[in-house]
Amino acid sequence: MNRTTKMAIAVAGLCMLSACGEPKPVETRQETLRVAIPKRAFGKTGTGEAVDLYTLSNAKGMRAAITTYGGIVTSLQTPDRTGAMADVVLGFDVIDGYLKEHPYFGALIGRYGNRIGQGKFSLNGNSYTLVRNNGANHLHGGLKGFDKVVWAARDVSSTEAQKLELSYTSKDGEEGYPGNLSVTVTYSLTKDNELRIDYAAATDKDTVVNLTNHAYFNLAGQGEGDILGHEVTIHADRYTPVDKGLIPTGQLEKVEGAPFDFRTTHTIGERINSKDTQITLGMGYDHNFVLNSPGGSLALAARVKDSKSGRVMEVLTTEPGLQFYTSNFLDGTLTGKSGKVYQKRSAFCMETQHFPDSPNKAQFPSTLLKPGQQYKTTTVYRFLAE
Ligand code: BGC
Repeated sequence: MNRTTKMAIAVAGLCMLSACGEPKPVETRQETLRVAIPKRAFGKTGTGEAVDLYTLSNAKGMRAAITTYGGIVTSLQTPDRTGAMADVVLGFDVIDGYLKEHPYFGALIGRYGNRIGQGKFSLNGNSYTLVRNNGANHLHGGLKGFDKVVWAARDVSSTEAQKLELSYTSKDGEEGYPGNLSVTVTYSLTKDNELRIDYAAATDKDTVVNLTNHAYFNLAGQGEGDILGHEVTIHADRYTPVDKGLIPTGQLEKVEGAPFDFRTTHTIGERINSKDTQITLGMGYDHNFVLNSPGGSLALAARVKDSKSGRVMEVLTTEPGLQFYTSNFLDGTLTGKSGKVYQKRSAFCMETQHFPDSPNKAQFPSTLLKPGQQYKTTTVYRFLAE
C-alpha cells in the first residue's frame, strides 16, 4: 500500500470515528503514516540463498540501502549544503562485488570486530582457537564472519522512522567461538538524518562479542577523490598503540603531542605521512581510540567535515572505543559503484567497538557475554550540512 492510499484510509477512518463522536487518538492517526520499506531482490549467494535489498528513506530525502547479505549498507545518500545528494559510502552496484573478496565495505562485523591476537583466547580455563585470517591473527569474525551471512529481515518501521531489523543465529563453535549466539541488528533512518544502529545479542554459553559496522565513508561522495582534506575531531585523550601485527600492546597511550591528537580539529592528511612509529606500523591511521566517554550511554565520539561540500558526519556511540581507519589497504584494484576506482585513502572508517584483542587484555573493558545477559550497544551516524 502506498503512502497516499494509507493516508486516504486514515482520513476515512477518522471521519467514521468522528461520526460516532469518539475522538481518535493522535497516535492512531500517526500510525497510518507508517510507510513500509521498499525492497527488491538483490541476487543470490554462491550457495543459492536469496538476498534482498531494502531502501530506507526519510522526509528529508536521505536514503540508506541495506542488503540482507552481510547487513551491508550498500549506499547512503545525504545532502550537501545546497541540498544536492551524494552517496557517501563505498561499495558495489550489484551483489557480485560483495560475493568476491573485498575489505568489508559497509558490512556488519561479528562475532568480534577487529583483531584477536594469535586467534586465541581463554575463558573459564578453556582455550578457544579461532580462524587465523589475518597473518597470525583473527580479524573481523574470521573467514565467514557476519559480513558474509544472509540475515533474516523484518520491517519494524514506526511512525517516527523506517527501521529494518536483521537477525542471525551463529551456531556454537562457528569460526571457533563458544555458544549459540542470537544477534539482532536494527538499522533506523531517523527524521533528523541519522543512521542509527542498535545491536543486541544473547548467548547460551560464556562467549565474547564485539559487533560493529564497517562503512567506508567519503563525504564528498564515493569515488570522489581522497579523504585527506576531511577535517576530523575525535573525543579521545588516549589510544591503544599496536605491534606490527596491529595487535594492541595493552598500553593506553596519551594522544597529546602525537598525530593521534584529534581533540582539536585536524585534517586527515596533515600528519598521515609523519615518521611516528605508530603511523608507520598502521601505514596511516588504523588505530583504536579510547573514547573519553567510558561507554554505556550514547555520547559524541567524533565529527568529520568535508569543507567543500559542507557535509558533516557526527558519530555517537555507547561503545568505549573507535577504530579510525583511513583505507590504507585500498590500492586501486577494486572498481566500485558507477565504475569508480577505489584508491588508497579514498575513504575513512569509524568503527565503534570495544578495544581490539580485549579477550586477551584483562585491563581493557570486557567483551565477555554470559547466558542471561543482554548485549546491547547503539551507534548513530548523524549527517548535517553547513
Ligand atoms: C582494520 C584494518 C583492516 C580493515 C580491513 C579495519 O577495521 O583495522 O586493519 O585492514 O579493517 O578491511
